[in-house]
This record gives sequence, structure tokens and C-alpha cells, in this order.
Amino acid sequence: MLTPGDPVLVRVPAKINLGLAVGRLGDDGYHPLATLFHAVSLYDEVRAEAIEPGHIELTMSGPGTLDLACDETNLAWRAAALLLDRHPGIRSGVRLSVRKRIPIAGGMAGGSADAAGALLACSVLWDLDLDPDDLVVLAAELGSDVPFALVGGNAVGTGRGERLVPALSRGQFHWVLALADGGLSTPTVFRRYDELGLGAERPELSPLLLQAIATGDARRLGATLHNDLERPALELRPDLARVLDAGRELGALGGVVSGSGPTIALLAADERRALDLAAALSSEGVCRGIVCASGPVPGARVVA
Ligand code: C5P
Repeated sequence: MLTPGDPVLVRVPAKINLGLAVGRLGDDGYHPLATLFHAVSLYDEVRAEAIEPGHIELTMSGPGTLDLACDETNLAWRAAALLLDRHPGIRSGVRLSVRKRIPIAGGMAGGSADAAGALLACSVLWDLDLDPDDLVVLAAELGSDVPFALVGGNAVGTGRGERLVPALSRGQFHWVLALADGGLSTPTVFRRYDELGLGAERPELSPLLLQAIATGDARRLGATLHNDLERPALELRPDLARVLDAGRELGALGGVVSGSGPTIALLAADERRALDLAAALSSEGVCRGIVCASGPVPGARVVA
């Protein structure tokens, strides 16, 4: 029998896709991808504490969380349920408290981050002797972006995005994240991509992009940021083009829609320029909120 311990607090980062090449819709309902994931210093926190056996409880706090379902459809709940299902010897239930800072439906894998955080927090709470690779396999069952939220750093993702290989990188990159009003649904953006008849036979990342992060060259990275989902996201949310234009006019080295959007990531040459860009962008009034973040940062970590 496994005995639960003290409450566990896990911090887990958001991601940006520095490159996202999308192939044609497969028979499994997913698109083959080649993506360069980049974890940034914008974090959700997941706290897990033991409650009576067989129960899962979930609460969420932070902007926009009142609209989220805190039930068995939530990815964080499903992460705990998956562990309970695979480890029948666990002798307690779990109360999960998620503090959200990653924008909801923002293209930064916030829901996946919460699932990754819940997996790690519960596995420690329940003293499951899982190695990191076991957790990554479980994470892939929960969603395409969940493995990366565990691993963090920079990684090339293939398959649905769940097959990861760490990517060499040097130094830190400084970002201004422009948060949008409302969210975009990932399946809707992929559907629009299909309607537009987009999708290469074999999705591939630009070698120049990989060189840019390997050498820590922010200028080159700014010039090579690329996202195949940008076109459908901009068609669904034409207002985002103004944010990208404003960011470039105000001196960003480059800008890209993050994942399926609507968050936009603007790259600055250094931390001070990121702060200047954030201030200038804020006075343009083109987005709901602005966050400065840097990356790469590690994936989900136990902090208490
Ligand atoms: O894997 P996840 O549950 O996060 O994916 C959410 C949805 O996004 C999928 O149901 C699918 O519609 C779309 N998707 C896709 N191709 C991928 C990843 C996600 O079409 N590689």
C-alpha cells in the first residue's frame, strides 16, 4: 500500500512554439507536426493534498477561471484520475488547487501545464516511484503538449507534438507576451487550417531556426520565428494582426502567434528592451494585457 505524505506544490511553465510546421490531417484526427517548443517564465502552480480515498477535488483561481469546468473533463483532474487508475494501491484521494497565470485558451498550453503539474504533484504526494520517462508516457496520453510541460527547456516535438528531443540552446531570450481578450479553440484553428487547404506532405523546421537558438542569436531567431497556424488564427481573429504590426514597429526583433493563438510573442534583444517594448505596446492599447517573460526555463518542478 502507498501512503500519502505532506501537500506538494509544483510550478509549471507556459510554452511558446518558436517554429510550428503542420502537415495534413491524419486518419487519427491529428495533424503531424514539427515544432520547436520553448518554455518561458510564466507559471501556473498546482498544489496537491491528500483527502479521503477515491475522491478527486479541483479548484482553480486566477483570471478567467470562473468559466473553467472543475470536473472530470478538466485535464488536471484527468491527470490525477489516470494515476489512480494505473496505481490501484494508492490509499488517498487528492484535492488539487491550481493557481493560474498562464492565459486560458491562449495558445501557451496552460491546460497542458496544469495536467503536467497535477501528474508530478500527485506522483510525489502518493510516493509513486515513477521515473521521469514514465511520467512523460502518461503525459502523452493526456494531450499533445503535456509531455513538453513536464520536460521544459527547448525541445523539438514531432508526431502530434508529444515526441520530444531536447534542442541545444545558448543564453536566454526575452519576450513580451501580448494577451488577447477571449481565447481561441485549438481544434477550431486546426479546422480552419484544413479548410484553407494548407499542410505540407512532411512538416519540417527551418535549420536556421535551430541554429539561431543553438547560437543564442536573438536577431536571427526573430527573423526565423514561424507558425503555420498563424494564417488560420489571424483569419479567425483579424485584430491580432495589429498587435504583430505594432510590436514590429516598436522594435521587436520578431513576432509570432503562440501555438493556436491568440497570445502573441514578441522577441526583444535583451531584458531592458523587453521592458521598453512592453511599456510602448501597452500605450498602443491593442491588447488586453502584457507580460514579460524569458526562456528557456525548466519544466514542471516541485517547489514545496
Ligand atoms: O492533443 P490535444 O488534446 O491537446 O489536442 C487538442 C485538439 O487539437 C485535437 O483534438 C485536434 O483537434 C487538434 N490537434 C491536431 N493536431 C495535433 C495536435 C492537436 O489536429 N498535432
